[in-house]
Amino acid sequence: MSYAVTRYDFRDKPRDYARLRDELASLLAGERDLIANAANTAALIFAALPDVNWAGFYFLKHDELVVGPFQGKPACVRIALGRGVCGTAAAQRRTLLVPDVHRFPGHIACDAASRSEIVVPLIAGGTLLGVLDIDSPRPARFDEADVRGLESLAELLLLSVRESCGRADRA
Ligand code: SME
Repeated sequence: MSYAVTRYDFRDKPRDYARLRDELASLLAGERDLIANAANTAALIFAALPDVNWAGFYFLKHDELVVGPFQGKPACVRIALGRGVCGTAAAQRRTLLVPDVHRFPGHIACDAASRSEIVVPLIAGGTLLGVLDIDSPRPARFDEADVRGLESLAELLLLSVRESCGRADRA
C-alpha cells in the first residue's frame, strides 16, 4: 500500500482539519489495534501539519506516561503525572495550549528546537489512556482552531479502537 499524505496550508484550519479527519478515518478503517492506529495517526499529523517537529503519543502505564508511537527526534521515555506539559494535561484531563514552552514551569525539553506545544488528553469512557503531544519550533504555533481540530483527530483514534479500549498496559 502506498499512501500520499496531503500537506494542507491550514490557512482555513477548520476546513483543513475536517479534510485531515476524513483522511484519518480512511487510514484507520478496519483496524482496532491501539499501537498500530496511534502510529499511523502520529505519522499523518506529522506529515500533514506545517511547522511541527514532534508529534506522537504517551500512554498511561502503571500511573506514569510512557512514550508511544511518534515522529520526530527521540524523546524522554517516562513522564510522571503532573510533570511537564504532558503530565499536567493528563493530570488535569484537559487540553493544554502552550504558546511559549520556556514560560511553562517544569516544561520537559525533549527537542531543544521546540518553542510551542499542544497536548490533548486521551479519555475513553472516563478512563485516561494517555496524551497526544505535538511540538512546534515556531512560538505560538497552535490556537483554539488547532485545539478543536486535534481533539477531533484524537477522538477519532479512540473511536477506532473502542472495542479494545482500555488502559494501554492492559491492551
Ligand atoms: N515537552 C513535553 C515532553 C515531551 S516532548 O515534547 C516529546 C512536556 O513538557 O511534557
